[in-house]
Amino acid sequence: MKSSLLKLTKAANQQPINQELGEVVVSIRDVDFSYAPGERQILSGLNMEFRRGQVVAVMGGSGCGKTTILRLIGGQYRAQSGEVLFEGDDIGRMSSAKLMTARRRMGMLFQFGALFTDLSVFENVAFPLREHTNLNEELLRALVLLKLNAVGLRGARDLMPSQISGGMARRVALARAIALDPPLIMYDEPFAGLDPISLGITARLIRDLNEALGATSLLVTHDIEETFAIADYVYFIANGHIGAEGTPEELSRSDDPFVRQFLDASPDGPVPFHYPGISLENDFGLAFDRQGQ
Ligand SMILES: Nc1ncnc2c1ncn2[C@@H]1O[C@H](COP(=O)(O)OP(=O)(O)O)[C@@H](O)[C@H]1O
Ligand SMILES: [Mg+2]
Repeated sequence: MKSSLLKLTKAANQQPINQELGEVVVSIRDVDFSYAPGERQILSGLNMEFRRGQVVAVMGGSGCGKTTILRLIGGQYRAQSGEVLFEGDDIGRMSSAKLMTARRRMGMLFQFGALFTDLSVFENVAFPLREHTNLNEELLRALVLLKLNAVGLRGARDLMPSQISGGMARRVALARAIALDPPLIMYDEPFAGLDPISLGITARLIRDLNEALGATSLLVTHDIEETFAIADYVYFIANGHIGAEGTPEELSRSDDPFVRQFLDASPDGPVPFHYPGISLENDFGLAFDRQGQ
């Protein structure tokens, strides 16, 4: 792994997108979920698969349940029915000890995930290694520098978070998420708030890190263009389950109205622009006029 990460920094940025089917790392089967009994069902009959070597994007409107899916995989919440399998084991049925071990094999870049502001760039990346391993300082230093090198920030190791740009901070967060070489990396809106150049760099890094680690990346995002450039497979969530799925090529060619509304950013389509309510005619007392004409 070390050598592949080193190679990464020298390699050209253009790896072919991975079309080969690796083994299933995460499998979501018929999952129903609501946050509390009697509350709105967030997910219903959800089925998804995430395979080794792939970058898989999960897209959909705000509040459709994307972060919730990551929480179910991370075991922060349990599905009321169905299964969430990680490397073949049901996350929802694991003992807390087993869940801790499983979580160590998942890297997570949280939505709005901030760095520890009182720790240097180096110490931010070292944090998970200090928490979860007993490496001596020399080995720890080598690993941290390798990770920082992979995101192009080895030279920034001694800076504090307040001294670096937003784009650099996101890359440090990326290095921290992969510190333990997780086979599964989950990114919750990693592009939010980035300028177009930082966004492009971050997207490319997500692809390249996945390649170098031989991992599986699950990418929750709204940015269609950047995502379609790096993803092997895309799920669109609507109404608690998969509204559409396919490779970026398949989805780009699709004439499914739901896919088109999303890709063309149209305000109206299967996902309505108007919050349900009484009709415009009734609100303005025009129903009679219409009928009378
Ligand atoms: N901890 C929680 N308790 C209750 N409801 C929640 C909680 N977290 C999120 N929700 C609700 O669940 C729905 C899905 O949320 P979320 O998964 O965060 O959506 P997304 O990430 O797609 O924007 C939203 O309606 C949200 O308000
Ligand atoms: Mg979210």
